[in-house]
Amino acid sequence: MKAFSRRNLLKSALATAAACALPCEGSVLVVHAGPEADAGEGHIMSQSVKLDEGWKFHLGNADLPDKDFDFGRMSRESTYAKNGRILAVGDSKFDDTAWTPVDLRHDWAVGLPFVEGANLPAHGGKPLGREYPDTSVGWYRRSFSVSPSDAEKKVYLRFDGIFRQALVLLNGMYVGETWSGYSSYTFDVSDMVNFDSTNVLVVRVDASLGEGWFYEGAGIYRHVWLVAKAPVHMVEDSTIVRSIVEREAATLHFSSEVINETAEDQMCQMSVEVRGVGGEESLLPQAHSAPIKIGAGESIALTASARLLKPKLWSPENPETYEAEFILRANNAAVDRDDVSFGVRTFRFDADKGFSVNGVPTKIRGTCNHQDHAGVGTALPDALHAYRLGLLKQMGSNAVRTSHNPPSSEFLDVCDRLGMLAMVETRMMSSSPQGIEQLNAMIRRFRNHPSVFIWSLGNEEREQGTVHGERMVATMRQLVRKLDPTRPVTVAMNGKWGMGVTHSVDVQGCNYDMKDIDAFHRDHPAMPTIGTETASAVSTRGEYSNDKVHGYLSAYDINTPAWGETAEAWWKFYDARPFLSGGFAWTGFDYRGEPTPYGAPCISSHFGIMDTCGFPKDTYFYYKAWWSKEPVLHLFPHWDWRGREGQSIDVWVHSNLEEVELVVNDVSQGTKTVERNGHVQWPVPYTAGYIEARGRSGGKVVLIERRETVGRPAQLRLATDRQKLSADDVDVAVVSVEVLDDKGRVVSTASNFVQFEISGPGRILGVGNGDPSCHEPDKASERSTFNGRCVAIVQAFRTSGAIHIVARSAGLKTAELDVPSTPT
Ligand code: GAL
Repeated sequence: MKAFSRRNLLKSALATAAACALPCEGSVLVVHAGPEADAGEGHIMSQSVKLDEGWKFHLGNADLPDKDFDFGRMSRESTYAKNGRILAVGDSKFDDTAWTPVDLRHDWAVGLPFVEGANLPAHGGKPLGREYPDTSVGWYRRSFSVSPSDAEKKVYLRFDGIFRQALVLLNGMYVGETWSGYSSYTFDVSDMVNFDSTNVLVVRVDASLGEGWFYEGAGIYRHVWLVAKAPVHMVEDSTIVRSIVEREAATLHFSSEVINETAEDQMCQMSVEVRGVGGEESLLPQAHSAPIKIGAGESIALTASARLLKPKLWSPENPETYEAEFILRANNAAVDRDDVSFGVRTFRFDADKGFSVNGVPTKIRGTCNHQDHAGVGTALPDALHAYRLGLLKQMGSNAVRTSHNPPSSEFLDVCDRLGMLAMVETRMMSSSPQGIEQLNAMIRRFRNHPSVFIWSLGNEEREQGTVHGERMVATMRQLVRKLDPTRPVTVAMNGKWGMGVTHSVDVQGCNYDMKDIDAFHRDHPAMPTIGTETASAVSTRGEYSNDKVHGYLSAYDINTPAWGETAEAWWKFYDARPFLSGGFAWTGFDYRGEPTPYGAPCISSHFGIMDTCGFPKDTYFYYKAWWSKEPVLHLFPHWDWRGREGQSIDVWVHSNLEEVELVVNDVSQGTKTVERNGHVQWPVPYTAGYIEARGRSGGKVVLIERRETVGRPAQLRLATDRQKLSADDVDVAVVSVEVLDDKGRVVSTASNFVQFEISGPGRILGVGNGDPSCHEPDKASERSTFNGRCVAIVQAFRTSGAIHIVARSAGLKTAELDVPSTPT
């Protein structure tokens, strides 16, 4: 109980400091021993504050110094001639009143117009790259204060993700540069920071050179943190919790690297207190490292261990997590704290039996995903991660692959919480300093997440079959072993299995090529295998024929590129082979870019099981039928084929019930048995009326679904995924619009222009409709419906109250919705 009250006190101290943050003036980082601090513990001197609010933004120019705040101008001195005052834009007196106020997370590319260009469809149709210097560079500026009482501390700036190549200046001085758009970077700014006057932080971001073959966004699209640490502190991302599971108990090993940046020796001790989520506090252990003297300027890993009795194991079904609160004392004063969320579980890959969690065979039912979403691009608020992963979880999926880059911590927090296993992938398969730096940052940052079950060191690399690839991955694997000996590594290989990289990984990652999988298993009987990438089936929500002109593909599970497989084909194959650990379908969601098989007018891909908004395509229900435990009956297409009377329409049902009967306008079309991992279908000559599927198991009707020929669009309906929002200026709700006829039935073909109005404490962050060819702007408060649906993403302000959303469309009845936003 003592620990709990101390935790609350510390949290309230942090909240007070965070509340001091002035949106314009910036965050004031103050951490003192307040009167409420636990006298026995002394005061914790370390603290992090998000610097997400109150930025100013301006486009620069990748070619012209005149339009790039003089960056790169060869005047008397060159750009990097001196450390300080290298650009006027870094000066506190610089006038940024003409710049646009923005809050992070921010992706400027999503607000750019769609442009036609030879290579642009692959990147979502946005003008980024060397050919578009006017829109490929962005500048960010903000100020913040640090209390003079923090002057003895070490101060850091941490960037969780900037796309990409950023130059960071603090108070006009050079701080550092970032390279990969997917890595986190931390800079020690203790020597450049002002404790007695305002600090000016400037970041120049250059998105001219991409790292992918898909939409990657542009800007500071993840959090920025200001971190103050006592001079004796736990080194960033060095805190580790590992568990060894035994019968009825687990041994927990704790460690953290402690650095003494004072001029004197310090007597240091680390204490760890484990907390559970809900009850059984009496079984939760505490641990203490041996007290140890750390010399001035030295660093040492402190370790401790403890027994956790009757641990609640983490699994995809029961994602139980624990918290370990690490407290560091130096010369008897508490100086640093780190809270680590962890899970106790075992994973095992077996060459014959596949993958298991806690000894339970667990087939990976996964999807690969990029990180963009409708309305926001790559700048996803945390709630959208939860929204997306929640939709996948409801589909019965138990795993995600963060293709082809490391995710944000918030993404993995949701995976831990929901029970989504995560294959986390580094961006660059390389043992160059750059490749190693990216890998190092990724493993250190994410190794405590219980959801992470395997590291992926690359994807379809050109060196995958060569000795160079083999050596590079061997070097990378060596680093992984050092930082995290608990998880295997793989590389997602497209062919060349058994060659090159195969010799350096623990688990063979197979992309596509199902025809070669049995032979590989026969020839490499000791090598576990996983389908790192499968499917690549293509479809468009609500479309039932291919249409090259508009860039649509039929939503029946029938279309794939030459290398792909339908959902049904790959899952039947994988499910039938116990040696396969399971696989990841390409992809859970449509994403911007890669509009295979068409180019323009498409601006997003067709690979998703859901569209870019998260609306399910019909194949979602195939997966749900065979991946989830719920009874499923999904009947399609819609029954609105005016003008096609008498023509044959394929009627499909995805179901996991034993048999399905189809009835058309009161006439039974017969009953069909549903084959495992299959679907049933009938050709039906179209006549207006209805189609109805009756799903039976054990001779009883379990579910009925009906599609009717509906009337003309008459009204709108609004719905949201959230009962209420947190009034924190960050939280979001996905508000979806459906077009209905006068009887309240969804008009699945409707394309109506919808205008949103919002009042109360909220804003519209962006809009979308899932149409892969729609060129309407995302940053708007209006959108056409595509096949009956569109969304607005609504973000709460910091003030609480009811957020009122109105959706209007000419000739249709207006819809209204309230989303309450309550204090956090
Ligand atoms: C794979 C590649 C993915 C994506 C996919 C499309 O080869 O790894 O990033 O491009 O093809 O089918």
